[in-house]
Amino acid sequence: MEGKTINNQIKKVLISEEQIQNRVSELAKEINRDYSGKKIHLVSILKGATIFASDLMRKLEVPVTIDFISVSSYGNSTESSGVVRIIKDLDHPIEGREILLVEDIVDTGLTLKYIQGILLAHKPKSLKTCVFLDKYERRQVDLKIDYTGFIIPNEFVVGYGLDFAERYRNLTFLGILKEDEYT
Ligand code: PRP
Repeated sequence: MEGKTINNQIKKVLISEEQIQNRVSELAKEINRDYSGKKIHLVSILKGATIFASDLMRKLEVPVTIDFISVSSYGNSTESSGVVRIIKDLDHPIEGREILLVEDIVDTGLTLKYIQGILLAHKPKSLKTCVFLDKYERRQVDLKIDYTGFIIPNEFVVGYGLDFAERYRNLTFLGILKEDEYT
C-alpha cells in the first residue's frame, strides 16, 4: 500500500465533494428551519462523524454547542461485532437540552441504537438523529433517523470521515475502496 497514490486505491468515486457539500447545505437548511428559535446541542460520535459534524455545524444558524462520545464497534475489521462499549463519555450533561446526534454511517444500526438509548436515559428535552450515510440494506434493528444525507449500497466506502484501518478519513469525497486493499 505504501507509495501508492490515493487514486490507485479508490475503485470509484461514489459521492463527489460537490454532491456532499450540496447535501450538507440542504440538511442544514432543514435543521435550521426545524430548530428555529431553539438551541441545538450536537452530540457527535467519534471518530467518523467529526468531518460531517464540523461541516454541518458551520452551516447552522441557530445557537449550537457540541460534545463527543466514543464507543467501540468495529475496531479495524469491516464487520460489526455487535459489541458496543463507551470509550469516551460526554463531557456535559444533556438533561433538558435539544440534542441532535450526528453520525457518519448507519450500517447494522447496533451502534446508533445503543447510543440513542444512552442519551434518552439522560432525559434530554428532545433527541433527533442526523446521519450522513445510510447503508439501509444492512439494517438489523429498527431505528428512528430524522435526517439522512445519502442512502448507499452495501459497498466498502471510505472518505469524508470514514476509514479503513484508520486511513482515508481525510478524503473530501466518498469513494469505494479497491478489494485488494482490504482482502
Ligand atoms: C462506524 C460508524 C458507526 C458504526 C456503524 O464506526 O461510525 O459508529 O460503525 O455500524 P453499525 O450500524 O453496524 O453499528 P467505527 O467503529 O468504524 O468507528 P469510527 O467512527 O471511529 O471509524
